[in-house]
Amino acid sequence: MLVVSVISLKGGVGKTSVTLGLAGAAWDRGLRTLVIDLDPQGNATTVLDPPEQRFTASDVLADPRPELLAHALVESGWGPQVVVVAADTLLERHNTVVGREQTLRLRMAMRGLRGFDLVLIDSPPSLGGLTRNALAASHTALVVAEPSLFALQGAAAALEAVGAVRTDNLRLTASGIVVNKVRSQATEHRFRLAELAAVYGDLLLQPFLPDRAAVQQAEGACIPVQAWRSPGAREVCDALDDHLDQLLTHPVDQGPFR
Ligand SMILES: Nc1ncnc2c1ncn2[C@@H]1O[C@H](COP(=O)(O)OP(=O)(O)OP(=O)(O)O)[C@@H](O)[C@H]1O
Ligand SMILES: [Mg+2]
Repeated sequence: MLVVSVISLKGGVGKTSVTLGLAGAAWDRGLRTLVIDLDPQGNATTVLDPPEQRFTASDVLADPRPELLAHALVESGWGPQVVVVAADTLLERHNTVVGREQTLRLRMAMRGLRGFDLVLIDSPPSLGGLTRNALAASHTALVVAEPSLFALQGAAAALEAVGAVRTDNLRLTASGIVVNKVRSQATEHRFRLAELAAVYGDLLLQPFLPDRAAVQQAEGACIPVQAWRSPGAREVCDALDDHLDQLLTHPVDQGPFR
């Protein structure tokens, strides 16, 4: 079971869309996938469209017993292969507390979690308690960036955060930076991509995810982009499929937490 945090300290770059895109790629392959939505905005939860939940992510952080997490797992509207821990607005209060005991809560709750091939954790665009909980519970962090100056700075900050959180989680790796919403015809994008390649080398993951209306259309319809039939969707899905392959073969330490 591989646990991946999808992070960026800049808002709106596509963390949630990449999380959902990877969950969709896994869904397409029949992998059993869990999406934990740690963002109080709850965008991933909206698109995954689970039925009413008795327990949500803030309950899990408030009472991090594995038994409670088991009750918070709900089948998504995408079908039984994709399970979700839904976000709720009370999560916000966990973003402001950053002591070690609070940071390790999700990891405590996930102790003994079985039955999933892949766990994806979506987080808010800040290095508060929620992103720290996500990173402390993960094998690897995937950083999302846009080809813009500010997003580039956000990627640098996110990579630094991965380094900082390693004090709580020695096995955490950075699997790399995935660049989203790329318009290959745009001069500014080409310039920023060249800059990213020069600064990050191998950490810059290929292929880039293109900017395609299908991403928003599928999200609006609450279905995986893999179920959206258009040439744009196909392009995005091919790229997501490559990224899922890279994640699943990324070397991680699957041993117990130290
Ligand atoms: N590859 C893409 N092509 C077109 N639109 C995209 C793409 N990726 C994301 N979007 C759109 O961009 C907007 C922001 O994306 P998203 O919500 O995934 O970002 P985020 O990083 O999760 O934001 P936040 O920081 O608020 O959590 C959404 O409307 C989404 O549909
Ligand atoms: Mg989001």
